[in-house]
Amino acid sequence: AYVVTEPCVNCRYTDCAIVCPVEAFRLAETMLVIDPEACIDCDVCVPECPVEAIYPEDQVPEEWRHYIQLNADKAASGLPVITEKLDPLC
Ligand code: F3S
Repeated sequence: AYVVTEPCVNCRYTDCAIVCPVEAFRLAETMLVIDPEACIDCDVCVPECPVEAIYPEDQVPEEWRHYIQLNADKAASGLPVITEKLDPLC
């Protein structure tokens, strides 16, 4: 699955969520996360992020590896699906 990482925090552009064909993005307070159960590894969200926050799980930079579990945990906690553009936080 793809993973949303640090650059998204307090930015949350949401450009990624509107292109996702399987509605895998979830709205958290300061960022979006990807539900690894929903993600089909299609790659369309990656070039949409203006701050390059999204990585394939096996290519997440070392300092952001903890975001893999964070995306999974937050997605499993019942956050709402997001498919629309919101005003960014930054
Ligand atoms: Fe975050 Fe980039 Fe999406 S900043 S909300 S991962 S477009």
